[in-house]
Amino acid sequence: MKILYFFIIFPILININCQLLPPLPALNLSFLDQSLALIFPIIQNFKNTITLDPFGVTQSWTGPDICNYKGFYCDNPPNNSSATSLASIDFNGFQLSAPTLDGFIDQLPDLAIFHANSNNFSGTISSEISNLPYLYELDLSNNQFIGTFPMSILNIHTLTFLDIRYNLLTGIIPPQIFVQNLDAFFLNNNNFIQKLPDNLGSTTAFYLTLANNKFVGPIPRSIGQAPNLLEILLLNNLLNGCIPYELGLLKKAIVIDVGYNMLTGPLPCSLGCLESVEQLNFAGNLLYGQATIITTPLNEFVFSKAIQRNKHLGIEIDIRLIKFPAPKNDLPEDSERPAAAMMKEPLEQLIEECRPNCLITDMFLPWTTDSAARFNIPRIVFHGTSYFAQCVGASIKRNKPFNNVSSDSETFLVADLPHEIKLTRTQLSLFEQSGRRVDCYPLFHQSSDP
Ligand SMILES: *[C@@H]1O[C@H](CO)[C@@H](O)[C@H](O)[C@H]1NC(C)=O
Ligand SMILES: *[C@@H]1O[C@H](CO)[C@@H](O)[C@H](O)[C@H]1NC(C)=O
Ligand SMILES: *[C@@H]1O[C@H](CO)[C@@H](O)[C@H](O)[C@H]1NC(C)=O
Ligand SMILES: *[C@@H]1O[C@H](CO)[C@@H](O)[C@H](O)[C@H]1NC(C)=O
Ligand SMILES: *[C@@H]1O[C@H](CO)[C@@H](O)[C@H](O)[C@H]1NC(C)=O
Repeated sequence: MKILYFFIIFPILININCQLLPPLPALNLSFLDQSLALIFPIIQNFKNTITLDPFGVTQSWTGPDICNYKGFYCDNPPNNSSATSLASIDFNGFQLSAPTLDGFIDQLPDLAIFHANSNNFSGTISSEISNLPYLYELDLSNNQFIGTFPMSILNIHTLTFLDIRYNLLTGIIPPQIFVQNLDAFFLNNNNFIQKLPDNLGSTTAFYLTLANNKFVGPIPRSIGQAPNLLEILLLNNLLNGCIPYELGLLKKAIVIDVGYNMLTGPLPCSLGCLESVEQLNFAGNLLYGQATIITTPLNEFVFSKAIQRNKHLGIEIDIRLIKFPAPKNDLPEDSERPAAAMMKEPLEQLIEECRPNCLITDMFLPWTTDSAARFNIPRIVFHGTSYFAQCVGASIKRNKPFNNVSSDSETFLVADLPHEIKLTRTQLSLFEQSGRRVDCYPLFHQSSDP
């Protein structure tokens, strides 16, 4: 979709020397077109309500040459090609303050475009704007509008672009807005509080932004039917329930962001069908995949308590136990028979049965790499120490910077880290210093090898 901004500014044919004319009344001014004479007092009245104009744009709003006022653009109206009237207003970034737009834009009958991003207009949005027969772009974003969603917008059948984000609007948005022929609908950063309407998927919009409000309830399943959606932003609301399978039907969507809600459940496999997606965000939700924890009987209670805590959130985690033949003790006493040999077979039986996508195991279970490889799945290693410590250790092992200093107290730099980390030889363990493999650490070395 393209949003075309079409400003045709008509050359002013009549040369009026403003200085020679009295400023008011309008009767004595010579206007390019009768329609401009009619809106002259409306603009002047609005100008008188402006309380702040930091860039002095309203200084140009004098005299009959309305088409050259800063922010005002003329064109011939659709129903009379020989007339000239006010077709569009672009106040973007003017930072004007006024208590209301009532009596202004709703009284400009030929207005097709009104853009007022980043001003300080307040009050409610006039219900009279539905009287504007040609209005197709309305941008009131980043102002101080209060009140509820302006229902009169539902009666502007020509509207294709509606941007009311960054205001103080509250209440609910009417479901009918989703059957209006909008190309773009932005209402993020307001205070709308409601369940998302079930007919949301009826929208013809290419861009739909509902982020940073207080929408609750599930993402409607109808979303999959939205024919045009390229970007849908639902982040930072209070949405809950599972992510609907139908989200994966948005074949054209490039950006889907439902982050920072309270969505739960697993990611639907339909997401694999998103053909065009470039940004997909589910962060900050309560999602889970099906997980199974494998442990030994004595450790079961450690996990079962935590699992129990999350059950009410609908998070189901299985525990499976690997039993040892040793009757009294958990792990085998018999040091001649390494635990690995005894656990490998039952673990692989479980992998065979559960068919996981990956295996996450403790660093001291290096042999599980082979088990994972047998089933062609990755093994992710869990290290109790921090990632930082791992990086320092790996760098020292690789670069042996301790060989480069003349005393135990001289510092050396740990290479390849984003920050400058300095150590002395005395801060290293013996086996790190020697670079040798100390006999009591074979398992450690095995587990830290890639
Ligand atoms: C309009 O302008 C004429 C001179 O051009 C002047 O004589 C007349 O008083 C003005 N009328 C008003 C209502 O100001
Ligand atoms: C169209 O506009 C011109 C210029 O304002 C006007 O003279 C003419 O009467 C209008 N035509 C109709 C059909 O209203
Ligand atoms: C054109 O439309 C405007 C706005 O609705 C209206 O005021 C005007 O009378 C119409 N003119 C013609 C010639 O239809
Ligand atoms: C908007 O107006 C409020 C007071 O009504 C003022 O505090 C604020 O600084 C204004 N913002 C801008 C961008 O002018
Ligand atoms: C050892 O010191 C030299 C000279 O200071 C330096 O160029 C080299 O990078 C150092 N090597 C290591 C492994 O730190």
